[in-house]
Parts: sequence; C-alpha cells; structure tokens
Amino acid sequence: MDQYAVFGNPIGHSKSPMIHTFFARQTAQDISYQAILAPVDGFESAVQAFFSQGGKGCNVTVPFKEQAYVYATQLTPRAKIAGAVNTLKRLDDGGVIGDNTDGEGLVQDLLLHGISLADKRILLLGAGGAARGALLPLLEQKPAELRIANRTEAKAQALASLAAEFGPVSASGFAELGDTPFDLIINSTSASLSGDVPPISEQLIATDTVCYDMAYSEEDTAFVAWAKAQGSRYVLDGLGMLVAQAAESFAIWRGIKPGTKSVLAEMRRNLG
Ligand code: ATR
Repeated sequence: MDQYAVFGNPIGHSKSPMIHTFFARQTAQDISYQAILAPVDGFESAVQAFFSQGGKGCNVTVPFKEQAYVYATQLTPRAKIAGAVNTLKRLDDGGVIGDNTDGEGLVQDLLLHGISLADKRILLLGAGGAARGALLPLLEQKPAELRIANRTEAKAQALASLAAEFGPVSASGFAELGDTPFDLIINSTSASLSGDVPPISEQLIATDTVCYDMAYSEEDTAFVAWAKAQGSRYVLDGLGMLVAQAAESFAIWRGIKPGTKSVLAEMRRNLG
C-alpha cells in the first residue's frame, strides 16, 4: 500500500487524513495517509526518514512550508511564486518535486461554486504567505484586475512586483481602495483569528460582490459575519479551499482527481 502523510507542528487537528481517506475511497485507491508531528527544528530529517521508508508523497503545513520549498529538488512555477510548498512527491530518480496547491484549491473552490474569475475585479486582502500562494492561480484565471491591499502597504507592493509579469496586479493600503465595488473580495489576512476584520469601506461590497474568507471555523469567521452584514449575497469560507487543495495534491500523487463536492458536504457536517 502506498504511503502518504502530512507534516506539521502542531498536527493533531489536521483534517487532511480524513479528507484523503474520503478521496481514496471515492477513487478506489489503496493508500494510507497519516499525520506526522515533526519537531519544530526537525522537518528535514522527519521527511527524509519518511521517504527512505518508502513514502511516496506528503503534504506540508505550518510551520514547514518554506522548509519544504528548500527541501524540494524541483519546483513548479506556482510553488516558485508562492515561495512555499505544501505538496512533495518523490520521483523515481530519487528527486523530490515541490508544488503548492493552496491557490489552485481556492480557484477550484470558487469555480465549484459557480464563480468565474475571468474579467472580474478581485480584491485580495493581506500580503502574507496565504496571499502569496494565491497570486499565480488567481492571475491564470485572467481577471480584469487583481488589487492586493494590506495593513503594511510595502508588503502588498512587494507581492504585486513579484506577480506583475503574470497579469494586471496592483497594490495599496486599505485606505486607498476607493469606493467602487469589487466583484470578488478574498480575505487572506489572519485578522479573523483575533476576531478582527480588515478596515475596508463597506462601499466596496455590492449585493453581487462575492466575499471569500480563506479561514473557516464552526461559527462564521469575523470576515464572513461582516460580509453578510454588508448584504453580500454570496459569502464563502475556506473549508472548500482546504478540500480542493487536497484534491489537487491527490491528483499530483495518484494521477486521478477526486470530486470535492460530497467530501466538502461531509466535512461541513463534521464541523458542526
Ligand atoms: P499567513 O501565512 O496566514 O498569510 P502571515 O504571513 O503572518 O500569515 O500574514 C498575515 C497577514 O494578515 C498579513 O497580511 C498581515 O498584515 P501585515 O502584513 O500588515 O502584518 C495580516 N493581518 C494580521 N492581523 C491583521 C489585522 N488585525 N488587521 C489587518 N491585517 C492583519
């Protein structure tokens, strides 16, 4: 049986083993998938041990995504732009390919919910690792505009420069966003963790503005609650992104892409 795993610290609450077990059942693949707690200073030896014992591939989560980027012997273009790797796959020649499926997971979840991004005006809130991972997949959908807005404006500018060659990307602070509504607003900030919402004008949300929080929780996140209160007709949280990034990883390893809809429904039931 081929072995897969997710490495993180902490890892106890990871939903990846459950998601990949659903996928394996759905696609009739005979695999095992375990969660592995690596010491904070011991990612490389833990992943090395896993591969030398025959492991075929793994997911990597906080705080090891940048170390996985360094560990990989080959990187996909989207992993290079992301500066972080969440999926490793061992190659037959002993090399290890590093990819990042987080941003594609976001895009696939939006598409699953019938939200196309082509020619749309997109506002991406935040300029940390989560925002960076989403840049290339979002621009590949050919939006009319991708604006990155961040509390620390210089970080938004840096991300915009990084992605400038791939599409119409710009950057600003929150206060300079103007008052023309966007088609899609994506929250990648960690503000929700402290119950905060980035200080953006409610005028940026029209009734048909889609609002997406990359975070999720059993109760509405602060951003989800705020977007609903502004009258946004379509508000989504990041549980679908979590399931969809896992499906992209599964496809990289197994060559078969599982459907996410039924797994997402199951995960939603398990949350409540
Ligand atoms: P992640 O990997 O989850 O993206 P990160 O790299 O630490 O985490 O980035 C956190 C992001 O959330 C940053 O864009 C941060 O803004 P700054 O760059 O100005 O620090 C943003 N953030 C965190 N708390 C916030 C808050 N209370 N209001 C607005 N933005 C916040």
